[in-house]
Amino acid sequence: MTTLLQLDSSAGGAASRSRAVTAAFAEAWRARAAAGSTAGSTLRDDDRRVITRDLHADPPAHLPSAALHWGAGLVAGTRPADWERAQHVFIDELLTADVLLVGVPLYNYSMPSTLKAWVDHVHVPGLTAGMPKLPLRGRHAVLVSSRGGRYGDGAAPDAWDHATSALEVVLGESMGMTTHRIVVDGTIAFDLEQFAADREAAQESLDAALEAARRLASELG
Ligand SMILES: Cc1cc2nc3c(=O)[nH]c(=O)nc-3n(C[C@H](O)[C@H](O)[C@H](O)COP(=O)(O)O)c2cc1C
Repeated sequence: MTTLLQLDSSAGGAASRSRAVTAAFAEAWRARAAAGSTAGSTLRDDDRRVITRDLHADPPAHLPSAALHWGAGLVAGTRPADWERAQHVFIDELLTADVLLVGVPLYNYSMPSTLKAWVDHVHVPGLTAGMPKLPLRGRHAVLVSSRGGRYGDGAAPDAWDHATSALEVVLGESMGMTTHRIVVDGTIAFDLEQFAADREAAQESLDAALEAARRLASELG
């Protein structure tokens, strides 16, 4: 069984660009399964599943205590069983995922608070991070970034995007996953009439991201 865990966090509903790109990735992933095995692959239709979690529609509660940031027994602190059970819903789901797909809309130069709450639940030194043998080492995390502005190459500095870069540190450096970044830039052109002149560039960025997502889905599949 190969599992894709798809997380979306945009509040933009049907207009969301990150959701469009994560959907394209998941669709390509499913289509590959439906097409059956490819050269060198022995996967059958029923070897794949996609778990979807909409963090905007169903937001995780904030971590109830700092003690839960650490693996059990590492620090003193109260850890009622129901708190641990709630946290392990997210951790166990992540541990089943061979590929993690995350929609990362840029909100105030950071990630949506719903996604940050999910990160607070799953980034646990002594359990998912900070150990010689990391349970998620080598698994793939695909980050679909969607940004109103344009960043890098003479536009706003890429370093102002504190969402994707933080996820690359947490999921990549700390938890050992192999991260991939797909970016849609300049989406403000779709949303505000005063930036309508930039719509063609935004559409190109979106089309390139959709294409990159489909390609990566078939490579990782
Ligand atoms: C609450 C909020 C805050 C935002 N902050 C920023 C920002 O700091 N920088 C930026 O470039 N765009 C910002 N935007 C625009 C979003 O990044 C843009 O609409 C993006 O396309 C959202 O992803 P989505 O299309 O998947 O919803 C913000 C949008 C919202 C709703």
